[in-house]
This record gives sequence, structure tokens and C-alpha cells, in this order.
Amino acid sequence: AKVAILISGRGSNMMALLYAARLPDCPYDVVLVASNNPDASGLALAAAEGVPTFAHSHQGLGREAFDAIIDDALAASGADHVALAGYMRILSTGFVERWQGRMLNIHPSLLPKYKGLNTHARAIAAGDSYGGCSVHLVTPDLDDGPVLGQLPVPITPGETAESLAARTVFAEHQLYPRVLADFVRRERDPQWLLGRVRDIAL
Ligand code: GRF
Repeated sequence: AKVAILISGRGSNMMALLYAARLPDCPYDVVLVASNNPDASGLALAAAEGVPTFAHSHQGLGREAFDAIIDDALAASGADHVALAGYMRILSTGFVERWQGRMLNIHPSLLPKYKGLNTHARAIAAGDSYGGCSVHLVTPDLDDGPVLGQLPVPITPGETAESLAARTVFAEHQLYPRVLADFVRRERDPQWLLGRVRDIAL
């Protein structure tokens, strides 16, 4: 599979996906790293690794118009899957529908808990014993698509949102490449595809 990664910031999940892609038997390649933030520090890391990058600011553009620019970059790259990794733009419904079933996201909570922002602070404030992270398929509703994999992260005494976030990214970096690889592998399995065709037919 050919994966394009969308980022807005430092891109540590992007790097985890990228290095996993270079290990033997990984079923995907990273063909593009794209960003809505030309200053995202992850862009320079991707470029240093020899991965093509694309950046275009969303400022002054409507959601549809901006997503069309991203879609053109994706088409030019030959990507057949999209991995959102700290991409801080809400996507237009049209864009989501075009990529639905082929676009994944990582979210720093145990979904369905704590969709949206400030997930760690909310988990701590609620007195939860665990935070964690989830990889899910992207659907038009925010952080709402089918969950493909999760890892819990214990909340320790004296935990702050910052300390929990810093620890949760270790879990994210393990989870995301594994779930993405399993997902694209499964898509190539004729039995699984047949099952899906049957589901759609029923
Ligand atoms: C991660 O915690 C991810 O779950 C969230 O934003 C953060 C991105 O970090 N959506 P990075 O850019 O991958 O380092």
C-alpha cells in the first residue's frame, strides 16, 4: 500500500510510521508527508528521510477549497491510503467520503471516551485509572469511526496532562504502525474482501 501522512506539528507519529515502513515485511510505503502548516517541524524530518513533502497553509481558504488542494497532492503522490497523525484540521465531508475506508487517525484517548481536544486533562479530572490511545477509521463525525486498535496507559499518582501525554506517545508509536500494517494486509486477503462484499450485499 502507498500511504500519505497528514501532519500539523512535530510529527512523532509520522516518524514511527515511517521507520516501521522500512522494516522487513512492512506492507506499506510512505509516499508523501503533507501539512496544512508550512512551519510544522515534522516536514523537515520527513525531508531529511528522503520522503516527498507538501505544505500549503489553509489560511484564507474555505474547508472544501483547502481539502481540494490536499487531494490534488495526494493524487499526484499515488497514495491509496491516508494516515492522519496530529493533523489539526477538521476535514470537509467530501474529502472524508472520498477517502472513507482508506483513511485512519490516531487519537490520544480510549475512544469512545474523550473525543476532541484536551483528552489527557479530561481523563485525569474524571479520576480514570487509564488513559490511552486509539486508531480508528475516519468518518465524517469527529473521532467517531470504527476503532481498529487501542492501547491503555495507566494514570499514575500526581499525573499531569503533560506527563500523561508524554508517556502516551510511546504507546501511540507502537500502536499506529502495527494497526496500519494489519489493516492494509487484511485488505489484500481475498477471504476478507469476499466477506466485505457479502456484508455489502446483505
Ligand atoms: C498525538 O498525541 C496524536 O494522538 C494527537 O496529536 C499528537 C500528535 O503528535 N492527535 P505528533 O505530531 O505525532 O508528535
